[in-house]
Amino acid sequence: METTLVLIKPGGVERNLIGEITRRIEARNLQIVGMKLFAADRARVEEHYSEHRERPFFKDVCDYLTSGPIVAIAVRGTNAVKAIRTMMGATNPLEATPGTIRGDFALTIDDNLTHSSSDAEAAERELSIWFPEGLAK
Ligand code: CMP
Repeated sequence: METTLVLIKPGGVERNLIGEITRRIEARNLQIVGMKLFAADRARVEEHYSEHRERPFFKDVCDYLTSGPIVAIAVRGTNAVKAIRTMMGATNPLEATPGTIRGDFALTIDDNLTHSSSDAEAAERELSIWFPEGLAK
């Protein structure tokens, strides 16, 4: 069993895709074990994206994540990290396969609807940032 993090970014919340994304997660037989809708504070977003601190898009992605409410979801299941990454599709939606969230609903890398943890180590780190109180189950 693995537990991983999904963030629905402000564009996904704005476009009423919370239901579609959580429906697909549950349909895949993955369990939602934590979920909340909230306005993210800048410090937490910067910590979340700390590996990208030197990248040219760091400021823009942090501005974007703090531009409106987001949803943080903790997802548990067998091979959950890889299963979720595959379900979300390539970071650049133009390279994402149809049938994935990005391949079906997104067009640009700046508004690629979701973030998901890249590996088990990142998942543990990111879950502790967004669910410091622990998970619901
Ligand atoms: P995400 O998986 O949340 O991780 C970092 C985010 O930065 C990424 O999705 C994109 O939304 C955004 N981003 C913008 N430009 C790039 C880029 N050239 N490479 C990777 N991520 C980028």
